[in-house]
Amino acid sequence: MSKVVLVTGANSGIGLALCERLLSHDAEGLQLCLACRNMQRAQAARSALLASHPRAQVALLQMDTSSISSVIAAAQEVKLRYNRLDCLYLNAGIMPNPQFDIRAFFRGLFSSRVVSMFATAEGILTQKDGLTADGLQEVFTTNLFGHFVLVRELEPLLCHAGLTSQLIWTSSSNAHRSAFSMGDIQHRRGTQPYSSSKYASDLLSLALNTHYNKRGLYSSVICPGFVMTSLTYGILPSFPTFLWTLFMPIFWLIRILTNTFTLTPYNGAEALFWLFKQKPESLDPQAKYHSLTSGLGRNYTQARRMDVDLHTSQDLFEKLLQLETEVDRVCSSAADGRTAYSTTCL
Ligand SMILES: NC(=O)c1ccc[n+]([C@@H]2O[C@H](COP(=O)([O-])OP(=O)(O)OC[C@H]3O[C@@H](n4cnc5c(N)ncnc54)[C@H](OP(=O)(O)O)[C@@H]3O)[C@@H](O)[C@H]2O)c1
Repeated sequence: MSKVVLVTGANSGIGLALCERLLSHDAEGLQLCLACRNMQRAQAARSALLASHPRAQVALLQMDTSSISSVIAAAQEVKLRYNRLDCLYLNAGIMPNPQFDIRAFFRGLFSSRVVSMFATAEGILTQKDGLTADGLQEVFTTNLFGHFVLVRELEPLLCHAGLTSQLIWTSSSNAHRSAFSMGDIQHRRGTQPYSSSKYASDLLSLALNTHYNKRGLYSSVICPGFVMTSLTYGILPSFPTFLWTLFMPIFWLIRILTNTFTLTPYNGAEALFWLFKQKPESLDPQAKYHSLTSGLGRNYTQARRMDVDLHTSQDLFEKLLQLETEVDRVCSSAADGRTAYSTTCL
């Protein structure tokens, strides 16, 4: 029986490289569904995949993870198309308007934190977040909450007696506990919404394991390393792409110090692909699986313990359930024509 795999954010970067790797592994034994917000880009990605794997089954699904109604409509469509889902990759993500803190960078460069700064970007990246049409924080909703709603909506396809399914989150080594606050899970008041959303995905994955393992659903988290994609090019938007290319030899040298400089989407997708081949029950729910590339260019996956605990993960899970109920109530009021109030009060 062919496996059904759905990938969010599949039209570019690490998501697209993952699809290519999955099809190279087993082109005919997969039903691959690319969930993307932009159908033109999704169509281009599908054509590229079919060009190298003409017999593959590659479907498209329109979904914007920053819009709760879009996520719900997409989930309905998935339930019409498939009876079950074997693997759901929660990969779509944004880091809008990133600001590179040059001063912090130079301070870090001459400190004992230099390797960790290159590996995790801790302290050198801030972002300006926006609001979605639902009044939610954009980074939180795109990276985390839209995916949470998707998982909840697809529960009947993911939880099947006697069978196992996988959720695989693309997190980051930029996920820092210090950027996250339980009193402000959307990160309305801080300047590191990306780091906060990725830390929240680490916590949520742990909570999902607590709640769903007994029903055959397992969740894991990966970090792709530092990969050159449109997300990273956005860190220095005025920097021409060819200058990034000139930096590549320096990046390869840095790789000798830190194997997290995976650099290409193919390398960055290593842990995503590796997890697909594992028995989900054998994985460690407290581990983050890192894509790593050695100085000689060998790819491998390494599990590293996450800075998460069960109690905090459960608190976040409860808060997300509350928010889901609240958003649902606001959407129903709006649909009924009753006065909807903005979810900014949540
Ligand atoms: N690159 C890195 O070094 C790095 C490091 C750590 C973690 N990550 C994570 O890796 C994941 C993939 O990023 P990438 O580096 O491959 O960057 P990318 O090429 O920009 O890919 C991001 C993908 O997410 C999609 N997306 C963004 N907002 C969306 C929305 N509202 N609804 C649906 N899809 C949406 C994008 O679609 P559009 O084409 O429509 O924008 C795109 O397909 C992200 O979660 C990112 O946080 C990347």
